[in-house]
Amino acid sequence: MSWITQTLSSSIGKKVLMALTGLFLILFLVVHLAGNLQLLVDDGGQSFNAYAYKMAHNPFIKVVSYGNFFFILLHAVIGIVLTIKNKAARKVGYHVSTKDSESTWASKNMPLLGVIILVFIVVHLMGFWAKAKLGIGEIGFVIIDGVEMHDLYTVVKTAYENILISGFYVISMIALGFHLSHGFQSAFQSLGLNHKKYTPLFKTVGTLYSYIVCFGFAIIPILMYLGISF
Ligand code: HEM
Repeated sequence: MSWITQTLSSSIGKKVLMALTGLFLILFLVVHLAGNLQLLVDDGGQSFNAYAYKMAHNPFIKVVSYGNFFFILLHAVIGIVLTIKNKAARKVGYHVSTKDSESTWASKNMPLLGVIILVFIVVHLMGFWAKAKLGIGEIGFVIIDGVEMHDLYTVVKTAYENILISGFYVISMIALGFHLSHGFQSAFQSLGLNHKKYTPLFKTVGTLYSYIVCFGFAIIPILMYLGISF
């Protein structure tokens, strides 16, 4: 058995892969948020369109982007497999009542939160990414500094003028915030990084990170819906 199949068939191996893919996606979200905040610049979308164009034409970002999709899929598939296995094990084994003060609402609902995020990602990619990358749906062009590029800003702005779409984004970001609030510290635990001194630090950083990411992503559709830019 190769080490890949060995890793994938053991529960610990799956957990480690969940943690590693999760940590990669945690990093991706920081970069994605920083780029998206340019949607709020009061320049008719110039900064954001120029940024999206640069990212789309950077060979390194292209490779990271393939990794991104692969890790999202892997994270979701392993998450589903682990959830099904845990449920089956609970049915066969005896039930232990856990009045664990450490178990939060988020920790108990990670699979549900994960499914909400997966649905969000599919809707999100169909709405924005598929237009820019696959030419599915309408997208215009703008010329910035003599270079013709996609007007992705108008695609996002038009979407967020619809309260149902911006509302869907805000609700999904709350689910994402809960998922991250448990996922961040849980990843370090799955990697065996349990320490009296550092575990509380991971928890605090994880909580702060999830608040910032949830708030940062949610404020974009809210402000764009209200027509506020800076
Ligand atoms: C206000 C919130 C968000 C906005 C405005 C936004 C906007 C966008 C846009 C415009 C693109 C297409 C970029 C391009 O093709 O050049 C994109 C791609 C993407 N977004 Fe978002 N996004 C948001 C939140 C999120 C969140 C929370 C996630 C994940 C949970 C996410 C995951 C992705 C992924 C995986 C891609 C494809 C990136 C790639 O090509 O590697 N986005 N987003």
